[in-house]
Amino acid sequence: MSFTAPITLPGLALDPQWYRRAVFYEVMVRCFADSNGDGTGDLGGLISKLDYLQWLGIDALWLPPFYQSPLRDGGYDVSDFKAVLPEFGTLDEFRELVTKAHERNMRVIMDFPLNHTSDQHPWFQASREDPDGPYGDFYVWSDTDKKYENIRVIFVDTEESNWTFDPVRRQFFFHRFFSHQPDLNFENPAVQDAIFDIIRFWFDMGVDGIRLDAIPYLFESEEGNGEGEPPTHAYIQRLRRMVDDEYPGRMLVAEANQWPREVAAFFGTAEEPECHMAFDFPVMPRIFYSLRSQTSGELVKILSETTDVPPGAAWGVFLRNHDELTLEMVSEEYRQAMYGWYAYDPRMRSNVGIRRRLAPLLDNSRAELELAHALLFALPGSPFLYYGDEIGMGDNIWLSDRDASRTPMQWTPDRNAGFSSADPGKLYLPVVQSLVYHYSLINVEAQLAQSRSLLHWVRNVIHVRKAHPTFGLGSLQVQQTDHESALAFVRSYAGSGMHFGDQSEEILCIFSFAHNPISVTVQMPEHAGASLTDLFGGGQFPSIAGDGVVTLTLGTQSFYWLKITDRPA
Ligand code: GLC
Ligand code: CA
Repeated sequence: MSFTAPITLPGLALDPQWYRRAVFYEVMVRCFADSNGDGTGDLGGLISKLDYLQWLGIDALWLPPFYQSPLRDGGYDVSDFKAVLPEFGTLDEFRELVTKAHERNMRVIMDFPLNHTSDQHPWFQASREDPDGPYGDFYVWSDTDKKYENIRVIFVDTEESNWTFDPVRRQFFFHRFFSHQPDLNFENPAVQDAIFDIIRFWFDMGVDGIRLDAIPYLFESEEGNGEGEPPTHAYIQRLRRMVDDEYPGRMLVAEANQWPREVAAFFGTAEEPECHMAFDFPVMPRIFYSLRSQTSGELVKILSETTDVPPGAAWGVFLRNHDELTLEMVSEEYRQAMYGWYAYDPRMRSNVGIRRRLAPLLDNSRAELELAHALLFALPGSPFLYYGDEIGMGDNIWLSDRDASRTPMQWTPDRNAGFSSADPGKLYLPVVQSLVYHYSLINVEAQLAQSRSLLHWVRNVIHVRKAHPTFGLGSLQVQQTDHESALAFVRSYAGSGMHFGDQSEEILCIFSFAHNPISVTVQMPEHAGASLTDLFGGGQFPSIAGDGVVTLTLGTQSFYWLKITDRPA
């Protein structure tokens, strides 16, 4: 497969706030491409696919953990934070990946599960064996499991308690996730320093950013619920000061699965900043809710709660990732509705969420896939795609836990979908062979050959978005409409950014969640008389009338991105 040169954004390479305009792509090393035929994806394989990612228009890769690990939690159970799991490659290969990505103007974000380690980590082994030794206090030990009773269990499918008895030390240890993932004791200054040391190690290796995994859970207390407690924020503030002093231009992104105000707290304030980015967990489930309820009210409500971020900060918006589609942050009523629409088979559920990929969730509807992406790319913040979703890959709900949506990338209709030359039985997970999503139908090669494929559509929408910095940098104003299925907002950018001079831009984005065509009237009093032009093809739309009203027709589950050109005063 060969790929033509991509569009490069003006100045992205030199912009310290590059993450505000970047398009991110989450790729698990294990799942993407196998370079040595042992059945497991590796760094060499990923390097060989950088041309593809560059062609697609990706600005930054997010790599989930590839550290030394027993892989009992997809690598989020780390046994050595400074080593690469041998089946994935070596530190030298990682350096090569960073260099080759940078040559292509692509950045690399690491994932850092700092809240916990694997029970195989030498720190934990030392801690359980020698309570008085240097690592004795590295974990949260207790003689009783009755501490911190306000703290909820997250992995409700597998864990009954956040405490597990260790037969070696004869004490309980605390864990927010699996019982093989003891939480580090952040009260201990030696732990705090060890974490800084690891972050420096990877920044020195050239990485451009770090995803702070499970960030709300660092500190716990008897009074609090163990989520975003004050000492946790104080620690992130200190980390941010270190990054600003020692590694300017690098980025921290928070994984905080919480309610809007709590997530936004991880941006910190203008005076006391914390993370540059935070994943937009509040918006994500509401996109899926709107698609099936055919109403925009929930999105309108959440957008008004989450758009304000401190200067220089940005949301990371996403539809899917390597975890279940979490439904923790919606009301019980909505959760039941979502299960009914999207997880009618109990196999599709996991913990408090749905373990399916994007295309199967949307029943492989091209209209819905386009609508969901158009929304993702128009919302405030920077979009994160999940590998394989650009070709509409399926999942395998017969696999356990979140492996359902971590199957090998489908490159070609050949053996193992072109992912690996191994004996098919040796693959880390089988390739998808379901009726609708079989790799002989859904693969990169076939979609490259077809100009109207989802892959080409996604690439095009990425490039249209990138040509308009307003999507990354601008503000958002919801506009009133007369239809409950319509969502309309104006993105505006006044052009104060370093590379755009005084170029200013306003874009009307309108989406219809209705399952039939609709006509909708939008109130745009500030733009009376303005003309509207389609961003994709340049088509002229009806102008906004003198009273500030415009009526548009939208096909089933469709959208427009329209440039607003105000009439000269
Ligand atoms: C994060 C990861 C998830 C992992 C958990 C525990 O939520 O996204 O995959 O299981 O942390 O490390
Ligand atoms: Ca391999």
